[in-house]
Amino acid sequence: MKAIIIQGSSRRDGNTSKICDLFSINQSIDMLHLSDYQIGHFDYEFQNLEDDFHPLIQKLMHYPIWVFATPVYWYSMSGRTKVFLDRISDLLKIDKESGRKLRGKSLGLITCGSEAKLNKGFTIPFQLSAEYLGMDYLGDVHGWIENSEIPAQVMPEIEAYLQKILTILAS
Ligand SMILES: Cc1cc2nc3c(=O)[nH]c(=O)nc-3n(C[C@H](O)[C@H](O)[C@H](O)COP(=O)(O)O)c2cc1C
Repeated sequence: MKAIIIQGSSRRDGNTSKICDLFSINQSIDMLHLSDYQIGHFDYEFQNLEDDFHPLIQKLMHYPIWVFATPVYWYSMSGRTKVFLDRISDLLKIDKESGRKLRGKSLGLITCGSEAKLNKGFTIPFQLSAEYLGMDYLGDVHGWIENSEIPAQVMPEIEAYLQKILTILAS
């Protein structure tokens, strides 16, 4: 069993990736970039069924732990991450079998901003979405970049969060 990081930055090798790399260096943690997939906005008429969302969901179903990784863009999750989250509504309406399979999975969150403090309320959509979907919220870890480096003070938190993921995978 492995965990997967769902990386939602607008750049592949940016700051969010720097933090994610500290996780995905571990062989139990895979990473995908949402920017590699064509995922349309949620559509009430489901006119984008042919895009990459549903095949991606089938791939993700093999993972018991989904960890969203998002930069902080305007005090919120990235647009790519939000579009992906919105599309999970497809699983409540036209692919209910997959929706039911989310129950019991774990949902984690890695954030990357330009400041040490994550703004109030940022994590709430993830916590509540996990609750709504029957997923266990793993908590979150926040990082930021200073002078192109991850500050040393972030490292213990990243290590603790990594260990939390590995412990769940081992249980
Ligand atoms: C469109 C945009 C909006 C941003 N808004 C915020 C913000 O509200 N708070 C913050 O701390 N940083 C903000 N930033 C800075 C990014 O969160 C920060 O540079 C982050 O490390 C970028 O990660 P990335 O390289 O993966 O995009 C913003 C950056 C961009 C491009």
